Amino acid sequence: MTTPELADRYLMQTGRRLPVTFVRGHGCLVYDETGREYLDLVAGIAVNLLGHAHPEVAAALAAQTKALIHTSNLYYTQPQVELARRLVELSFPSRVFFCNSGAEANEAAIKLARKWGTRNRDGAFQIISTQGSFHGRTLATITAGGQPKYSDPFKPLPDGFVHVPYNDLDAIKAATGVKTVAVMLEPVMGEIGVVPARDGYLAGVRRWCDEQGLLLILDEVQTGLGRTGRWFAHQHHGVTPDVMTLAKGLGGGVPIGACLAAPKADVFEPGDHGSTFGGNPLACAAAIAVLYVIERDGLVGHAAEMGEVLHSAISGLGGKEVRGLGLMQAVEFSEPRAKPFQNACLEAGLIVNAVDDNSIRFVPPLIITAEQIDRAQQVMQGALK
Ligand SMILES: Cc1ncc(COP(=O)(O)O)c(C=O)c1O
Repeated sequence: MTTPELADRYLMQTGRRLPVTFVRGHGCLVYDETGREYLDLVAGIAVNLLGHAHPEVAAALAAQTKALIHTSNLYYTQPQVELARRLVELSFPSRVFFCNSGAEANEAAIKLARKWGTRNRDGAFQIISTQGSFHGRTLATITAGGQPKYSDPFKPLPDGFVHVPYNDLDAIKAATGVKTVAVMLEPVMGEIGVVPARDGYLAGVRRWCDEQGLLLILDEVQTGLGRTGRWFAHQHHGVTPDVMTLAKGLGGGVPIGACLAAPKADVFEPGDHGSTFGGNPLACAAAIAVLYVIERDGLVGHAAEMGEVLHSAISGLGGKEVRGLGLMQAVEFSEPRAKPFQNACLEAGLIVNAVDDNSIRFVPPLIITAEQIDRAQQVMQGALK
């Protein structure tokens, strides 16, 4: 049986896969089982910040497997504490809870907000989030997310989430009431097709949260860690959240998530929350290596620079709009041609991501070069034909 046949037989059919089986990678290149090479502009959906098989991540993982893979959080481990210190130094005064995914990081943020509301806002528990947002696939995070296609089949949903249009501060103001405890936003909505916050939106939300005594939770699972050309996307807007969630790129491909809370929001006490694997030494060793290489190699600035190169490359594809920030870009076609375009690119050895019928998302490794973007552009021009 082929790998796709085995997958049909043994894997739950939760997603539609493209007809390719990858076996190895190197940098921005990945290879299928026949040895065919592909240029990867998706990076495991914004995960492989340093590309595939980065030698320093591989070395950190190899060394850690020989020292200590897992202990649980009943004990202290050095990589976890070191990673937390690095993240706090890079972001804002806060403390960190580690978990294994973006959804779990957002679950932690939601629980944190509810506990904070119990303590500080007379039991307020409602979170305002935005239509089209994506925060993960657990029951609470599909409810927080603003895409009914992900939540409707699983009703009844948990109480306490309201959705307003993105980039609309007045809608947040109108939705705020005595039960509101927090506003939860992506600085760039990713899964709906890369929709950046307009100038002034996040600053306005920050002011409103301060005036009303609400927490501002920013989901930087996709936008964090250099992706948008700053360490964190909120830094483009001159605001600091009370709670920030990270995952995706943090481990360079190894599953890890994090929820950072400023002192004001840091209300968890022993016993409130936990995760067996969260922040285990193996994942933290990988993440420490990822942060080290991003900083040493100036990859945040490089992402800003390559973002502009990518933006102009995809501007020539005849779409009706090109949107994005740094190395998180999308082209939207006026016709529903995204999926045929994605498939034609794959056949020609280029990996891009059709987020819906009309839009293609590009979230390549931060190490991508101008030459590779140029090569991608040529393949895409061919695929258009
Ligand atoms: C903004 C955002 N939040 C949360 C998630 C969920 O992360 P995970 O799939 O690791 O649970 C994603 C995943 O695409 C995301 O883009």
